[in-house]
Amino acid sequence: MTDSRQSIHGEWGSRWAFIMAATGSAVGLGNIWRFPYVVGENGGGAFILIYLACILLIGIPVMMAEILLGRLGRQSPINTLRTLPAEHGARGGWQILGWLGVIAGFLVLSFYSVVAGWSLAYVPFMATGTFTGAETAQVEAFFNDLLQDPWQLLLWHTVFMGLTALIVLRGVQNGLERAVRLLMPLLFLLLLVMVGYGMGAGAFLDAMAFMFTPDFSALGAEAVLIAMGQAFFSLSLGLGAIMAYGSYLSSRSSIPSNSGLIAASDTIIALLAGLAVFPIVLAAGLDPGSGPGLIFVTLSYGFGQMPLGALFGTLFFLLMSFAALTSAISLMEPATAYLVENRGWQRPRAAAIVATAAWLLGIGSLLAFNLWSGFTILGLNFQELVEYFSTSIMLPLGGLLMALFAGWVLPRSVTGQELALSSPGLYRAWLVLVRYLVPAAILIVFANSAGLIG
Ligand code: PHE
Repeated sequence: MTDSRQSIHGEWGSRWAFIMAATGSAVGLGNIWRFPYVVGENGGGAFILIYLACILLIGIPVMMAEILLGRLGRQSPINTLRTLPAEHGARGGWQILGWLGVIAGFLVLSFYSVVAGWSLAYVPFMATGTFTGAETAQVEAFFNDLLQDPWQLLLWHTVFMGLTALIVLRGVQNGLERAVRLLMPLLFLLLLVMVGYGMGAGAFLDAMAFMFTPDFSALGAEAVLIAMGQAFFSLSLGLGAIMAYGSYLSSRSSIPSNSGLIAASDTIIALLAGLAVFPIVLAAGLDPGSGPGLIFVTLSYGFGQMPLGALFGTLFFLLMSFAALTSAISLMEPATAYLVENRGWQRPRAAAIVATAAWLLGIGSLLAFNLWSGFTILGLNFQELVEYFSTSIMLPLGGLLMALFAGWVLPRSVTGQELALSSPGLYRAWLVLVRYLVPAAILIVFANSAGLIG
C-alpha cells in the first residue's frame, strides 16, 4: 500500500543514506554545545538520569512514530498530516501540527545558526593559536568580546546560513551521505582525544561523580522540563525534520532498528561531550553553570594547554561546524519540501526563502548578546526566549501530538505492518508507550512546570 505512493522529492539511495542523514540531523550543537551547558546549569547527575529516561521512554517511541508518519505520507510534514487523517477517517485539524513544526523549525534554525557561527568563528581563532597557553580569564574575556561584537556575529551567522542554504538547494541526498560517513567518525575520535586529555590532565573522577551521581535534591520541576526538551532537541524530534527524512525512506528499511541506532549514536556523542568538558571545567575552577559559552570557554582553554592543541582545536571546531550544518539542513527540510509541493517552486528558490526568513529572525538572537541584552521577558532575553519556547515547549508538544496520531488515529494494522517488529510483545509495548505513557509523561511535566511559573 505505501509502495503505491512515492515521494516527489526522491528516495534515499540506501538504508545507510537515511541513517547517516538522520544521525547527521540528530548529532549537532545539541550534543556538543547544548548538552554540557544544560547539564551544568541543572546540577549534573540527576539531570542526566532524567535525560536518559526521556530518550529511552519518550524519544525512541516518538522517533519511531515520526519516521513512520513520514514514510506513510511520503510528503512534507504539513501535507502528510493532511493526507493521513483523511485516509483514516480522522478530522482535519492535524495539519496544524505540521505548521507548528515548520514554525518551530524556523525558531530553532534562527538561533542555531548564530551559535554555529560562533563555532565557525573559532576555527580561525584556533588555527592562529589565539588560545595557546592562555589563562582561563583570558579565554573567557575572548568569548565575551566576540558576543559583544554584533558585526562579527552577523558575519558568521550569515556564512553559516549561506552554507546551509547552498546544501539544501542542491537537494538533501546529494553527497551528504559520503560527507557524514567520513566526518562523523572523525568527530567521534576527536571527542575521544578530548576525553583522554581530560583523563590525564583534568579532574576526571570529579567529572564522573558530577555526571553520574544523581542528587535529586538539586532537581526542580523546571529541570525535568528542560531535560525532556533537550531529549527532543538532541534527537531532532517534534518538528517534522525526521518525518521529512522518513518520507524519503524505502519501505523495506526497518524503522525500529534505525531509530535505535540513531538514538544510541546521539546519546553516546552527548555523553562523550560531557566527559570532554567537565574534567576541564572542574580542574580549572570554571563554573559548570555558566551557560551557553561553556564549551567555547572550556574547550578552548583545554586546547590551549595541550600539546598540538591548536591543530586539534581547529579540527574540533571545524567538525562541530560540520555537525551543525548537517542538523541545520534538516531544520530547513519540512518548510522547503512544503514550498516545493504546494507552491510548485523550484527547490533553490524555496530553500533561499526559508533560509532568508530564519536568517532575519536570527539577527534578533545575535543582538540579544549585545545591543538588546537589556530587553527581557520573564528574565529571558530574545535568544533565550526563542530557545526556551521552541525547545522546551514546542518540540515536546509536537512529539505529544505525533504520538497521539500514530497511537490513536492510525489503525494497528497499518502501524504494525510499518514497524514490522520481530515480536508482538514489542509492538504492544510501543503502542502502550505512544498511546498512554508518552502523552501522560509530557502532560505531567508541562503541568508541573506551569505550576512552577504560575
Ligand atoms: N538535533 C540537532 C542537534 O542536536 C538539532 C535539531 C533539532 C535538528 C530539531 C533538527 C530538529 O544539534
